[in-house]
Amino acid sequence: MKSIKIKDLTWDPAIYPRTAKSQQTINAYAEALSINAKFPPIKIQRVFNYTNANGNKSMEATIILDGNHRCVAFQENGIKEIPAIEWKDTPLDYEENKTALLLESAQCNTIHGDRLTPNDKKQVARDIASKDPECAYTETVLAEKLGVSQQTVNAWITDIRARQRTNRNSIILKLSLLGWPQEKIAEKIGLSRNRISEIVGNTSFGNIDTLLAQGREMEYIAAHYQMDLALTWAIKLQRKTDQEKFKALGWGLRTWDQWYFNNCDEQFGDDWPGRIPAQLIAHTLYYFTKPGDLVLDPMAGGGVVPDTCLVFERKCQAFDLAAQYKKDKQDKRPEIEYHHWEPQKEIWPVTKKPDLIFFDPPYYTKKKKEYEQKANKDIPSISSYTKKDYIKFFKDYFTLAHKNTKPTTTLAFLNADWRDFESTPAAEEKPDNAITIFDYHRLLSETGWKTIFRIECPLSSERLTGNQVQKMQDKRILGTIGRTLLIAKKNI
Ligand SMILES: C[S@@+](CC[C@H](N)C(=O)[O-])C[C@H]1O[C@@H](n2cnc3c(N)ncnc32)[C@H](O)[C@@H]1O
Repeated sequence: MKSIKIKDLTWDPAIYPRTAKSQQTINAYAEALSINAKFPPIKIQRVFNYTNANGNKSMEATIILDGNHRCVAFQENGIKEIPAIEWKDTPLDYEENKTALLLESAQCNTIHGDRLTPNDKKQVARDIASKDPECAYTETVLAEKLGVSQQTVNAWITDIRARQRTNRNSIILKLSLLGWPQEKIAEKIGLSRNRISEIVGNTSFGNIDTLLAQGREMEYIAAHYQMDLALTWAIKLQRKTDQEKFKALGWGLRTWDQWYFNNCDEQFGDDWPGRIPAQLIAHTLYYFTKPGDLVLDPMAGGGVVPDTCLVFERKCQAFDLAAQYKKDKQDKRPEIEYHHWEPQKEIWPVTKKPDLIFFDPPYYTKKKKEYEQKANKDIPSISSYTKKDYIKFFKDYFTLAHKNTKPTTTLAFLNADWRDFESTPAAEEKPDNAITIFDYHRLLSETGWKTIFRIECPLSSERLTGNQVQKMQDKRILGTIGRTLLIAKKNI
């Protein structure tokens, strides 16, 4: 036990579960103090990685687990220090131990005189359950810690657990439809392979058609079953032909080699720098793959390729180096695996040989800042490379892909001309700084690939403001809205 300055303590409302301080208790304690009554020590915990009330991150703090009323009463009586014991004698990572701290605090508060109200306890149980989709804290544990019956805990959290189960099952189903082997899903989700097999075999999402017949929107149905829109569409359109799917999605099927789409269909893929329309991917799948084929997306960004594969019943393995895809069972896009491609090291993390590689890399330094923000500082996106390294990356990548794919694999490579046109009239541009589609075509040829289609997928010119256009016109600057999909086959 030690004596600690009250002003150095933090009352954290997220941990100390009392909805409101009781002035009555404080007054009673203050009165007892004035006649020299002795109080048991308060319980505290030193933490790091703490965000304080002003939003300052990475702080150290000493938080109160038990004894908040005593602290206030001491202060009101002009006493600056209070006896305290530490729960754990070494500082804890706050973020990692939040639930354990909350539960310890709740348990202390159920034991001593000034008890938590049933509503406080309910709130604690619900907070813990929602942060614990793995159900590490069972109903029995929660009941014991909060001093209530298991039935009570069950009634408090049953809706949260049901939602988590459906959500977990929908993730399992999605990974299974994308072709993940059950062992790999089991490892990702943290369940046994047998359990995964049962869930894949038995999960039913009721009758989506009934909800549709009732006039429910896809968003409503997705929310109802706790699954994302892509999976909802996939289930609705299962076993329909590709053409029927285009029709149901309202995407006109282009039968020529210019694919212009006004907008991204927001239902597929996340908002991501350089996001591409699902329609563009669907066209690539339509012309160059068949249902059941395996698609590799090496730089998946916001996940529009796996989403489209799901709807069009193609398997998909997707990677990206964005920090959010690092190993974490809870991420929003479990189908995207974290991988930093360094093709000169010849590491090929793909488990089966793909039928199609849909490759949408950063277009040289375009959106460099945005991709830097997504990545870890020490693991750079190729958009931070010099021109020489960027070109070498593709030469090595195309070589590696050639070595690790089937004779029939198709490579779909999306990119745009990068020209040094900023503030430069077209006639004065320095061609040495540019990287154009001709360069990628040359690299493909040098590494054993033959370009068989060049499909133009222009961006909308609407993204340029009136002012920008005026400036460009005045200075005779020629902008780029072109974007090209090169389709290559192996030259064997
Ligand atoms: C053009 S974006 C992909 C956008 C995606 N198709 C979409 O529509 O959301 C390119 C992606 O490449 C990733 N990337 C860049 N360099 C990488 C590397 N060396 N290894 C893995 N991913 C990389 C970036 O993080 C970025 O998400």
